[in-house]
Amino acid sequence: MDVKGKLFTKFLERQKEYSQQQGQAAIEKQHAKGKMTARERIELLFDPDTFEEVDAFSVPAPAGGDFGKKVTAFGDGVITGFGKISGRLAFAFSQDFNVLGGSLGSVHAGKIAKVQDMALKVGAPLIGLIDSGGARIQEGVASLAGYASIFNRNVKSSGVIPQISVVMGPAAGGAVYSPSITDFVFMTNKTSYMFVTGPNVVKEVLNEDVSFDDLGGAIVHMKKSGVAHFVYEDEENTIRGVQKLLSYLPSNNLENPPFFEYCDTDLRVDERMRDIIPDDPNKPYDIKEIINLLIDRNSFFEVSAGYAQNLVVGFGRLRGKAIGIIANQPKVLAGTLDISSSVKGARFIRFCDAFNIPILTLEDVPGFLPGVDQEHNGIIRHGAKLLYAYADATVPKITVILRKSYGGAYCVMNSKNLGGDVNFAWPTAEIAVMGPEGAVSILYRKELLESKDPAKLKKELTARYREEIANPYVADDKGYIDEVIDPAVTRKKLITAFEALESKHISVPSRKHGNIPL
Ligand code: HXC
Repeated sequence: MDVKGKLFTKFLERQKEYSQQQGQAAIEKQHAKGKMTARERIELLFDPDTFEEVDAFSVPAPAGGDFGKKVTAFGDGVITGFGKISGRLAFAFSQDFNVLGGSLGSVHAGKIAKVQDMALKVGAPLIGLIDSGGARIQEGVASLAGYASIFNRNVKSSGVIPQISVVMGPAAGGAVYSPSITDFVFMTNKTSYMFVTGPNVVKEVLNEDVSFDDLGGAIVHMKKSGVAHFVYEDEENTIRGVQKLLSYLPSNNLENPPFFEYCDTDLRVDERMRDIIPDDPNKPYDIKEIINLLIDRNSFFEVSAGYAQNLVVGFGRLRGKAIGIIANQPKVLAGTLDISSSVKGARFIRFCDAFNIPILTLEDVPGFLPGVDQEHNGIIRHGAKLLYAYADATVPKITVILRKSYGGAYCVMNSKNLGGDVNFAWPTAEIAVMGPEGAVSILYRKELLESKDPAKLKKELTARYREEIANPYVADDKGYIDEVIDPAVTRKKLITAFEALESKHISVPSRKHGNIPL
C-alpha cells in the first residue's frame, strides 16, 4: 500500500474506533434510566444530517498521579459542534454521562469553550445539553479552571447570542452555574436535577435527609426556585421545546426575530374581548384567555409557567412577528406584584430587550403585595428591578391597561412616563393612586367616624371615587394614556402600533453599564 493509502486506512480506522467506542451496554444503561445518549440528543436537536462534530478525537489531559479513574475514550466525554435547527445555524455541546459521569476535565472544558467562541464569533445560538457530575475530581484545579473559563464566556456572550441550557441528568456542583448564567434553562422531570451541594453533603453538614428530587428536581426548580424556565415529562419533548423556543428568537442581538410565515394575518374584531372582564371589579379572570384571543392563534409560548404565576410572561406572535408578553394574572394573588414576580418579569424584559423582541404589557394590578415577609425580604429592591428593566428597555413597548392600575404598580408596568411608546386603556380601566376603598378611608376618615351610617357613606364615596378618579378618562385627558379603546379591536390596535414602532430608534448616553438593583 502506498503512503497515501496507509494514511487513508489510518483515518478510516480512527473513524471506526470512534463510532464503536460506546458499547451497547453503556447505551442501554442510559436508556434504562429513561435518558437518551449524548449523541441521540444531538441527533434529535439538529435537522437530519446537518450536525458537524468538532474535536471528536480529543484525548483527555493526563491527570496528576494515579488517583481516580482515567478517561480512555476519544472526545473526553462531550460531543461538540454545529448544525442547523429548523434551517438555522446553531452550536451545541452534549455531555456524555457514560464517560466518568459527564464530569468536566480540562480538555472537556476546552472543547466547550471552543464552540462557545465559535458561536459568539458568527452570532448563532449555543445550546448546552448537560448531564454531568460537575468538576472532574481527579483533575483537580484544572477542572475548576475549566468551569471558570466557561462561565467567563457565558457572560461575554450574554445579550449577544441566545444561550440555552438543557439539563437532562445531574447538574451538580460547578455544572449548575453555567446554566444559571444562560438565558433559559430546560429540565426533564424525574431524570434531571440541579444542586450546588447534593443530598450527601446536606446530610453531612446539616444532618437533614432530602432526596435528589426534593432537593433539586425539575418541579422544585420550576415552582420554587425559578431556576428552570421550562419542564417537560421526557427528553424528546424537552428537545422539541428548545426548537420551539428558538423559533421566536433571532440568532444574535443584531438581527430581528425570524418572521413566521404561516401566521395568522386576521385583524379580527373580537367581541368576546368585551365580556372577559367580570362586572364585579374584584372578581378574578384568567389573563391567558385574553392573551390567546389577542395574539396569532396557538402562538403563545409561556416561560416559567409554574413560577410566580401572578405574572404571566412568554412569547407570542402578532401577524407572524414575535413579541414578548408580560401580563398580570388576576387569578393568582389578585395579580399583585411580589418579589418573585418582579424578578421574573425583569429578567424576561432584559432578555426581550437584548434580542430586539418588542414588549406588550397587559395590566391589571392592584399594587405591590403588602406584608412583613415581602418588606423584610426586599420587595423594595426586587420591585425596583422590574421598574429598571422596563425603563432601560429600548425595544418598542406597548401597554394595555385592562382593569386595575394602582399606585406604584401603575408606574412600574410600562407607564407612559417610564417610557411606554403607546399606552392604551380599556373602558374598564381604573387608574389612580390607590383603590377606592383605601382612598376613601384615608380621605374621609373623620367623616366616616362621625357618620351615623358609615357603611352607606363609604358606599357613596366609593362610587363617586370610581366615577371621578378611578377610571381611564383622567389619564386619557392628560395624555398619560394615548387612547381608550374598545376591547374588541385591541388586536388590530396592537398590530398597527407595533408596525408603526418598527423603526423606533433611541440613542442612549455612553456609559460602561447601568447599575440595575441586583
Ligand atoms: C469524576 C465522577 C464525578 C466527578 C461522577 N463521577 N461524578 N468522576 N468526577 N465529579 C463518576 C463516578 O465515579 C462513576 O464512575 C460515574 O461517574 C457515574 O457516577 P455514579 O455515582 O455511579 O452515578 P449516579 O449514581 O447516577 O450518581 C451521579 C451523581 C454522583 C449524583 C452525579 O456521581 C455524584 O454525586 N457525583 C459528584 C457530584 C459532585 O459533588 N460534584 C461536585 C464536584 S465539585 P464509574 O467509573 O464508577 O462508572 C464542583 C465544583 C466546581 O463541581 C465549582 C465551580 C463554581
